[in-house]
Amino acid sequence: MYICLCQGITDRDIKSSVEAGAESLSDVQAYLPVALNCGTCRESAEALINETLQIKAQKLSYAA
Ligand code: FES
Repeated sequence: MYICLCQGITDRDIKSSVEAGAESLSDVQAYLPVALNCGTCRESAEALINETLQIKAQKLSYAA
C-alpha cells in the first residue's frame, strides 16, 4: 500500500527501514524521501513507524 504518493513509497519500504534500524521519521528519511514534499503522508508514516517499532520490540522480547 502506498503511504507517500508524492515519492511512491510503500508501507513495506517504511517497515524495511525500521527493520534496518530507523526509529523515527527523520531516521527513515535517511533511507527514503518520505514526507519531504507535500507532507500529507507525515502522520500516516509516523504511525506506521511507531507500529512497526512496537512489533519489532515484541519480537525481541519473545526471542529473549
Ligand atoms: S504524499 Fe508524501 S510527501 Fe506528499
